[in-house]
Amino acid sequence: MRGVTPARGLVLIDGVQVPRERAVVSVYDRGFLYGDSVFEVIRTYGGNPFGLEEHVARLHRSASKIAMDLPWSEEALTAEILGAVREAGFAESYVRVIVTRGVGQLGLDPDLAGEPTRVVMVHPLTLPPVAAYRDGVGVLVVESMRATDGTTAEGAKSSNYLANLLALREAKLHGAYEPLFVDRRADVALDDAEVLEGGTSNVFAIFLTGEAGEPGEGAEGGRRLLVTPPERRILGGITRRHVLAAAPGAGFEVRIEPITLRRFRGADELFLTSTVRELVPVVRLIGTDTHVVGSGRPGEATRELHKAFRALVGASGLPLPWERPG
Ligand SMILES: Cc1ncc(COP(=O)(O)O)c(C=O)c1O
Repeated sequence: MRGVTPARGLVLIDGVQVPRERAVVSVYDRGFLYGDSVFEVIRTYGGNPFGLEEHVARLHRSASKIAMDLPWSEEALTAEILGAVREAGFAESYVRVIVTRGVGQLGLDPDLAGEPTRVVMVHPLTLPPVAAYRDGVGVLVVESMRATDGTTAEGAKSSNYLANLLALREAKLHGAYEPLFVDRRADVALDDAEVLEGGTSNVFAIFLTGEAGEPGEGAEGGRRLLVTPPERRILGGITRRHVLAAAPGAGFEVRIEPITLRRFRGADELFLTSTVRELVPVVRLIGTDTHVVGSGRPGEATRELHKAFRALVGASGLPLPWERPG
């Protein structure tokens, strides 16, 4: 087989553990043929899968959004994932769960599919480089969106990531860490485009001093506004949800509302969120020019929110990402 089999990891296919070298699915599987599948990425804190029920519920919701019936209960899948993590025995795990519509005759028609194929992969958790948290990252503004956006499957975590991976390729060519998807209608300037999300992340803006036209109390006054786009044309991230839950307790006023690129640029701090990466400060917006966010360094408000997020997920005892050696 081409490619490299990871050195460590545990794979279940339809509930059966298989050696990694033989962890294969049929070329007639619709996940392979058409990207006809949904997935989840879960991580552990202290060895325990975080938000497992939420992830399993989202997987079932995603399946329902793409009209795929799953013949098992959320409880059964939760138990299977938990068992796989325990069996793998890594200090911290990365878990990927993939469900395809299954194997069938060639043809687009979903009715050709048999039973869904279910894959659970458990690997040792690899964290992003410390520099991402210590120095912040740049994102490339890309006028694109996910394959399911604007369709009846909007919001599903489908495995069709072609737009995302091409955008990531473009971002890397521009020295950026992640693409930032913006939705630009034909008749509007790029600055008026709506900010959506990152290639594999949700995005947030922090305003410390009040925005233009709004009476700002200033950072001294403790006014900290956290803004994130609504769950329309984005993936409703589980990290996003927990950041939003942690924010009021950390002294943030939360607004979930559409945000233009112009307003996003005016933020004092920006950050992106995802399961493995938690909160990553964004310090550069790369587009037709390069905009430096705030001071150009990761901001204090983002770090405080990160600590509040850690407390909420019960991981206060672990080293903060920017404090790790390396
Ligand atoms: C498009 C997209 N948005 C947002 C996220 C973040 O979601 P979560 O916080 O649940 O990992 C992801 C994660 O893969 C993603 O692919």
